[in-house]
Amino acid sequence: MTETLPVGRFQLQQQRVELKRCFLAFLSSHKTLFTVLWITAFVSVFLWQRNIVGARFSIFAKSGPGRPVPKTRSFVFNLTDFGGVGDGVTVNTAAFERAILAISKLEKSDVAQLNVPPGKWLTAPFNLTSHMTLFLAEGAEILGLEDEKQWPLMPPLPSYGYGREHHGPRYGSLIHGQNLKNVVITGHNGTINGQGQSWWKKYRQKLLNHTRGPLVQIMWSSDIVISNITLRDSPFWTFHPYDCKNVTVRNVTILAPVSEAPNTDGIDPDSCEDVVIEDCYISVGDDAIAIKSGWDQYGIAYGRPSRNILIRNLIVRSMVSAGVSIGSEMSGGVSNVTVESVLVWSSRRAVRIKTAAGRGGYVKHITYRNLTFNDARVGIVIKTDYNEHPDNDFDPKALPTLEDISFTGIHGQAVRVPVRIHGSEDIPVRNVTFRDMSVGLSYKKKHVFQCAFVQGRVIGTIFPAPCENLDRYDEEERLVKRSASQNVTDIDYNV
Ligand SMILES: *[C@@H]1O[C@H](CO)[C@@H](O)[C@H](O)[C@H]1NC(C)=O
Ligand SMILES: *[C@@H]1O[C@H](CO)[C@@H](O)[C@H](O)[C@H]1NC(C)=O
Ligand SMILES: *[C@@H]1O[C@H](CO)[C@@H](O)[C@H](O)[C@H]1NC(C)=O
Ligand SMILES: *[C@@H]1O[C@H](CO)[C@@H](O)[C@H](O)[C@H]1NC(C)=O
Ligand SMILES: *[C@@H]1O[C@H](CO)[C@@H](O)[C@H](O)[C@H]1NC(C)=O
Ligand SMILES: *[C@@H]1O[C@H](CO)[C@@H](O)[C@H](O)[C@H]1NC(C)=O
Ligand SMILES: *[C@@H]1O[C@H](CO)[C@@H](O)[C@H](O)[C@H]1NC(C)=O
Ligand SMILES: *[C@@H]1O[C@H](CO)[C@@H](O)[C@H](O)[C@H]1NC(C)=O
Ligand SMILES: *[C@@H]1O[C@H](CO)[C@@H](O)[C@H](O)[C@H]1NC(C)=O
Ligand SMILES: *[C@@H]1O[C@H](CO)[C@@H](O)[C@H](O)[C@H]1NC(C)=O
Ligand SMILES: *[C@@H]1O[C@H](CO)[C@@H](O)[C@H](O)[C@H]1NC(C)=O
Repeated sequence: MTETLPVGRFQLQQQRVELKRCFLAFLSSHKTLFTVLWITAFVSVFLWQRNIVGARFSIFAKSGPGRPVPKTRSFVFNLTDFGGVGDGVTVNTAAFERAILAISKLEKSDVAQLNVPPGKWLTAPFNLTSHMTLFLAEGAEILGLEDEKQWPLMPPLPSYGYGREHHGPRYGSLIHGQNLKNVVITGHNGTINGQGQSWWKKYRQKLLNHTRGPLVQIMWSSDIVISNITLRDSPFWTFHPYDCKNVTVRNVTILAPVSEAPNTDGIDPDSCEDVVIEDCYISVGDDAIAIKSGWDQYGIAYGRPSRNILIRNLIVRSMVSAGVSIGSEMSGGVSNVTVESVLVWSSRRAVRIKTAAGRGGYVKHITYRNLTFNDARVGIVIKTDYNEHPDNDFDPKALPTLEDISFTGIHGQAVRVPVRIHGSEDIPVRNVTFRDMSVGLSYKKKHVFQCAFVQGRVIGTIFPAPCENLDRYDEEERLVKRSASQNVTDIDYNV
């Protein structure tokens, strides 16, 4: 299929054309041209004077070519002040560490911003500190060292028991933080690049002895913002907030190859609450978003849910997995999640809830609204036999509950199977609601709305026609026909 330009970008281009047109019209009069020249000259002298006085005290921190960098905190530092060299060859780990150590010693509530100027800043993993803003200028790129020996090992996450891929310790993340408050990673679309290619290759060749590290991982922290930057080619999950509160991801681009970039999930909120993810473009080699809360007996023991999560205005693509997932590790529970105004394109699955016996926990109060699926194999998926376990000590009687899940305003085209809700006798799916759905099919077969052990209702008319497990209501929410059999099984993985 031909790749279409994502909507937002197209509008942006149109706006640029519009602006250019206005500007030319403005310059066409001699008088205004003269005024513009005067202002330019005046501003130049003004800025020159400012630079002499010293960048730290100006409105804008000193910056090279590109947009002036705004000052967002009391103190502003430049990575070069700490010996950083952005030549793509010099290793800057010590420069980052010195800068962050200096910031951690400042005493003020609203501490410091660390500017990363244009250039390629190669580094091994480093830790952030509280009350800091990492600002990536236009053309700034932080590059992760490919040599895994430079990546420190850390203990496994308590709610997982093991590294996700190997027993024992795991690699830390390129940019890491623990027990922090008030951290911002932002910029003028600078990039954090994990250079994951070598990791994916070693992983496939089974050369790694430990679980790969995420690109950015923030643990046990609150008030975290990631905005206006690009994250790309993570060795493993891209952004992993773990047991955090109040996390915002806004206007971020997340990229990895759509195939052969194993486990490069975009954003994985894990045992987190009060999370907003909005206005992002995510195209990666696994789930674009996967909400999690720990794995089997370890997640049950840790007992920290993911809740109060709002995901909106995204364009996502996942050729291997799904646009927005919940699970499969959800043993601490997942509740109160809203997913709205999301376009999923050219993907294997659009939205998916995945779990298994042994997980325990729950997935409840989940609202999907205004979703568009454009070219997906399966649209909505609920899967209850995702049998990947950390070890054999999981309790098969720890059954997850799945309930109160609603789908409103679901549209799309070129979808083979719009709905596949595969509950089981042990893990039935309860109280599912469908309202206002019309999804164009790319494949004509009888069973494209597939169900098993599902209880719920359809309000009004939807397309394709729902499975017989669901009760029918009219637009005014009056019962029309009660389902005779919620347990009917009509799942066909061959479609
Ligand atoms: C940082 O310092 C370097 C070297 O002095 C300078 O070229 C650059 O413009 C500065 N960048 C910012 C964002 O302050
Ligand atoms: C970051 O801090 C954690 C916790 O103190 C530590 O385990 C880890 O090794 C640190 N990482 C680096 C790169 O210093
Ligand atoms: C999004 O970020 C880009 C830079 O990455 C910036 O130019 C743009 O203004 C931001 N948009 C919004 C709505 O903040
Ligand atoms: C930011 O950079 C990424 C990667 O280069 C690009 O795809 C995206 O369009 C840029 N975003 C904006 C708002 O310019
Ligand atoms: C993995 O372990 C083997 C055997 O101990 C060792 O030879 C190899 O260098 C290790 N590989 C990595 C990437 O650490
Ligand atoms: C959440 O974090 C943001 C950014 O740090 C902060 O401005 C806001 O006050 C925090 N919200 C709450 C409820 O603490
Ligand atoms: C993103 O960039 C835009 C444009 O520069 C700015 O207005 C906005 O405040 C930034 N957003 C965040 C959350 O940093
Ligand atoms: C559900 O989450 C939203 C944020 O997405 C929050 O505003 C709301 O208060 C939460 N509801 C409950 C009952 O906690
Ligand atoms: C529905 O989502 C699309 C993006 O897929 C967005 O453009 C549109 O504004 C949304 N509509 C409403 C009513 O929120
Ligand atoms: C079913 O779920 C909806 C939300 O989707 C909720 O409003 C309703 O109260 C639930 N019904 C029951 C019987 O729990
Ligand atoms: C459907 O399955 C549930 C268990 O998942 C069971 O409690 C119920 O009795 C079954 N209903 C019918 C009509 O077989």
